Amino acid sequence: MWPISIDAARQRRYIARFEPPDARLNDESVTTRKSTSSAGPADCPPCERVEGVKIATLARKYGTPLYVYSHTALVENFGRIARAFASIDPLIAYSVKCNSSAAVIRTLVEQGAGLDIVSIGELERGLAAGVDPAKIVFAGVGKSRREIEAALDAGIGLFNIESEPEAEAIAAAGCRLRVSAPAALRINPDVDASTHRYISTGKKENKFGIPFHVARRVFRRVSKLRGIDLRGLHAHIGSQIMKPEAYVKSLGRLTELIEFLRRDGHTIDTLNLGGGFGIDYENGINPMDMDALGRELIPLIEPLGVRLILEPGRPIAGPAGFFITRVEYIKLGDVKNFAIVDGAMNDLLRPALYSAFHRIALSEPRGGRRKQYDIVGPICESADFLGKERRLPALKSGDLLIVHDAGAYAMAMASNYNSRPRPAEVMVKGRRHYEIRRRETLSDVVRGEIIPDFMR
Ligand code: LLP
Repeated sequence: MWPISIDAARQRRYIARFEPPDARLNDESVTTRKSTSSAGPADCPPCERVEGVKIATLARKYGTPLYVYSHTALVENFGRIARAFASIDPLIAYSVKCNSSAAVIRTLVEQGAGLDIVSIGELERGLAAGVDPAKIVFAGVGKSRREIEAALDAGIGLFNIESEPEAEAIAAAGCRLRVSAPAALRINPDVDASTHRYISTGKKENKFGIPFHVARRVFRRVSKLRGIDLRGLHAHIGSQIMKPEAYVKSLGRLTELIEFLRRDGHTIDTLNLGGGFGIDYENGINPMDMDALGRELIPLIEPLGVRLILEPGRPIAGPAGFFITRVEYIKLGDVKNFAIVDGAMNDLLRPALYSAFHRIALSEPRGGRRKQYDIVGPICESADFLGKERRLPALKSGDLLIVHDAGAYAMAMASNYNSRPRPAEVMVKGRRHYEIRRRETLSDVVRGEIIPDFMR
């Protein structure tokens, strides 16, 4: 396999010197506190290539800021999950929301992935990528009538129903189109996934799913609706989860419910455990152990006699993506040094929104004393940072920095804030590189805007 970072051994030596990261939080503030020691996770060894292609070559050809995805890593990351659960042959529905670029979706569909979608836009993208519609599962608390009808029309495999009124809307659409919508009831199992509060979804106070204590009654009601074929349960308890325990707990609750439902006479043949398997943003070497998760879950799932669905997004696309940004200016201050780069919070929102930590590396080895920098963008907000208090070799204008784990929830959450065109995306495979989305132009940014007549 091609090296993704130039020197994994060196990286491991670095990491061995660190105290174990608090992987629970992926939180810049936690990491920043630790970085006050002489070496900390804030140090990141250089990263010269993605697969067989130099980052400097990509930056020269496509410009910066730039997203780069490794095809090999996408395939391997999908394979890791598929292999861990292979003995029960699950449907692994790639969660399109984390990276919805056509070439990325196509890569995973070619590997046999289904798709987890949340909108008509994602449905369109999935169908365009050539996915078998029966392998599409549709989640989300606010599916519109139009979206429901489009999904029924396409013949998707499963609706994850989030509320009784939504069930009624799906049933009505099913009746209108004279089909029976295959569906699972999304349960809120009230399980703490120990993750950032913005991406925790399986607790009572979250808007998702049907509360556990009324699930049996709701299932009974919904199963009677014409136009719906209710045949399973779904639970997605959150994202960036690092330990198997939360899944075991969630599965325990669902198992209990399945037993009740079967006793009530319902047929349950589908169990969707959602996604959320965490990655190691701090060091890149200790993601959620999928084999261990498989070993824990499979013996509990097998006796249930259901088809398992998983909906991973981040663990597939996250580590396969890199955000490349160029240093514009160095500003040495009394209390802080700033490396002002051409990438910003509009391109990578996670640090601003969740205080998320992403490793940041220089694209070439460089000696000399390390300095501490805040890596910040040009946007007029103090939340516009990619990393804080990062120890890097002395930086200069023109340097290329690589932000790791930028394949998930990065370009997918990018905006045109400050009227900034969104970056290009490139896929690397071996020694070859392919532009998979061109950089937006200034006219793309203003496309669709209209000056009302009275102003003309
Ligand atoms: N299934 C459902 C129903 C979901 O809501 C999600 C993510 C997934 C699957 C995929 O989860 P994953 O395997 O990617 O963790 N923007 C945030 C993450 C939001 C996750 C939303 N739901 C971030 O940047 O951390």
